[in-house]
Amino acid sequence: MSQPIISVKDLHIWYNDFHAIKGISIDYLPNTINAIIGPSGCGKSTFVRTLNRIHEEVPGARAQGSIMYMGKNILSSEVDPVDLRRQIGMVFQKPNPFPSMSIFENTVIGLKLQGEKNKSKLMEVAETCLKKAALWDEVKDKLNKPGTSLSGGQQQRLCIARSLAVNPPVLLMDEPTSALDPIATGKIEELMTELKKEYTVIIVTHNMQQAARIADYTSFFILGELIEHGLSSDIFTNPKQKTTEDYITGRFG
Ligand SMILES: Nc1ncnc2c1ncn2[C@@H]1O[C@H](COP(=O)(O)OP(=O)(O)O)[C@@H](O)[C@H]1O
Ligand SMILES: [Mg+2]
Repeated sequence: MSQPIISVKDLHIWYNDFHAIKGISIDYLPNTINAIIGPSGCGKSTFVRTLNRIHEEVPGARAQGSIMYMGKNILSSEVDPVDLRRQIGMVFQKPNPFPSMSIFENTVIGLKLQGEKNKSKLMEVAETCLKKAALWDEVKDKLNKPGTSLSGGQQQRLCIARSLAVNPPVLLMDEPTSALDPIATGKIEELMTELKKEYTVIIVTHNMQQAARIADYTSFFILGELIEHGLSSDIFTNPKQKTTEDYITGRFG
């Protein structure tokens, strides 16, 4: 059994005095896809956003507990959040390519910000990442067109390529396909299965079929608590908790 790449212990998150995450512990193994499911407002976004400390952007948000990554608690003030976000990348629900930038520039912006200036190196990384994101064939002849000229599904794959360009071992995705049509969704699902050979993926989804299809492990949250966590095959066919069963069979509420 390999060591977890991320180990969350007794994590609590507050927005001012609202207790949004109430003592969650989960280990994530390398090269796995991990889904988080649960009703709207149960804290899925709050939880994943804390894993790369983007939650700090919300005034009044604070976290307590530990999130061990590479031997350090990432919540510690000694960890630089900008540096951390290069290691633990994030893809959001709504594709958000930078509007003033070309497809090429969108892909390599992270590397450029790290100081990479060599044109051929940037081109090489752009090609590799656009290929990994299964977008290269569709854009290779128009790399200088604006990122925003692409379709929604292509824009989301561009955002995935942008995250991959700084080579983060962990990729967080918050409902990455909820704004996409079924064909684009299928492409992103295929892509994730491909990506887990090199990366660890933690994905929030409201689509239980999606979790069952792609995730090795699934966690079920309600009202800031972890109700059940385990192999997706167990969660979706043989859940231990009655609440999980009610939720996955649509009887929740
Ligand atoms: N910026 C915020 N300020 C205050 N409360 C928030 C904020 N974001 C989310 N919340 C609250 O935290 C809870 C969890 O929200 P969220 O993590 O967005 O849930 P989910 O992603 O599962 O729908 C909800 O009750 C929500 O209203
Ligand atoms: Mg959410």
